[in-house]
Amino acid sequence: MYLGIDIGTSAVKLVCTDTDRILATSSVGIDTSSPQPGWSEQHPDLWWDATRDALNQLSGQAMLSGVKAIGLSGQMHGAVLLDHDLRPIRPAILWNDSRSARECDELRAVQSKIGQIAGVLPLPGFTAPKISWLKQNEPEHYSRLAHMLLPKDYIGLCLHGELATDTSDAAGTLWLDQAARNWHVGIAEATGVLPSWLPPIFDGTDVIGSVTAQAAAITGLKAGVPVVAGGGDAATGAVSLGATEPGRGFISLGTSGQLFVADREYKPNPERYVHAFAHTLPGRWYQMAAMLNGARPISWIGGQLGLSAAEVVALAETASGERLPIFLPYLTGERSPLGDPHIRASFFGLEDSTTRAEICRSVVEAIAFCFADAAQSFGDTIDSLPELAAIGGGSQSDLLLRLIATVTGKPIVRSLGSDSGPAFGAARLAACGVGALQEADLAVQPSTPDRFEPDEMAALSERLQRFRRLYKAVSVVD
Ligand code: XUL
Repeated sequence: MYLGIDIGTSAVKLVCTDTDRILATSSVGIDTSSPQPGWSEQHPDLWWDATRDALNQLSGQAMLSGVKAIGLSGQMHGAVLLDHDLRPIRPAILWNDSRSARECDELRAVQSKIGQIAGVLPLPGFTAPKISWLKQNEPEHYSRLAHMLLPKDYIGLCLHGELATDTSDAAGTLWLDQAARNWHVGIAEATGVLPSWLPPIFDGTDVIGSVTAQAAAITGLKAGVPVVAGGGDAATGAVSLGATEPGRGFISLGTSGQLFVADREYKPNPERYVHAFAHTLPGRWYQMAAMLNGARPISWIGGQLGLSAAEVVALAETASGERLPIFLPYLTGERSPLGDPHIRASFFGLEDSTTRAEICRSVVEAIAFCFADAAQSFGDTIDSLPELAAIGGGSQSDLLLRLIATVTGKPIVRSLGSDSGPAFGAARLAACGVGALQEADLAVQPSTPDRFEPDEMAALSERLQRFRRLYKAVSVVD
């Protein structure tokens, strides 16, 4: 059995698999704190506690004793800042934190080729500008910095005691030379980072170490079980769907959202904030539109109205018509394709008669509209894709998948277990790392029992135009 651990933003998710089938899952929720407007933080110890609790749930199902290898997956771009004793200096600064907008402008000015080297233009979500911010604003924390990790790598450190990352997570820092698949010393130094603070980079299937006796005693895992490097959640999600070869594409509907297309070549396209990143397998890259708000607006509005995400979608199904409000879903700013850390969410067109169902429908529709914008930013890259697979919690909503199929013009397909994609992908990387799967097996696509065809676009088309005009009207970015 192989274990995948995914350090998500809203939960730590675990999957046990026999390489093909999901045998058991567990999940423990985690909170994000926002001590100031635009800030988004989680303490790394919270991830470790949630991982231990989620492992505990699995040990209740007598799963842990059969684990032969472990793979890691996690939210990308988060800055885990460690001192000489390998302890976190402060809470990690996450992928959806927008505090470092000024530092991004400064970095772009001194590294004019950064879009071509790092595969994307600087935006606050990425790791590098967060360190420039730290240097300016928290000098006492900055002075203690000795090591940097990405979120899943901190869990690796807790399990096997090594400092390491994989290419796909390194790719999301802005410090990676994507073509060379190695740290770019000039960009690191431009953000106040010493190359010695950065961990060595491995392929996702490389075994980094094994579960220590101390970690075994705390978690119930067996000491000595190998742990592979794994990948950032976009890359592990891709591995769960066989999206490791050119022309394989998918969408992810988690707290964040992505439109992802795999490739064997590095093809930077920074102008529309499409990310060109190294994949977690050697010799592979991918292009990705990364939307900061994904399916999160559904749980956000549910929280405000006292409804679960499933209830929000069910209510949204009951509403239609000309008088729906328009919702801009940019709760934490937006990355692709707007590159706008300053924009925030808003409703437009609320009437005295507007119902909860109409509000919920406008929220679900807005998520689909973001995917229409993402598809447009890819230009003709996605024309040849016959369909897109969907993963993430939001993939459980038939309404959302129908709307996305309609606005992108692409059939959307859904496999069993699509909501545990990244953890499943991490488990498959682990199986590959110990020889139970070959690299070619990772390209096998799962069967997709559910398929959603594009519908008539007529009414939605007009609303999509209004959605785009509304953004232009309220944006403060030129
Ligand atoms: C990708 C991205 C998200 C985070 C959180 O660029 O920002 O996928 O990894 O899920």
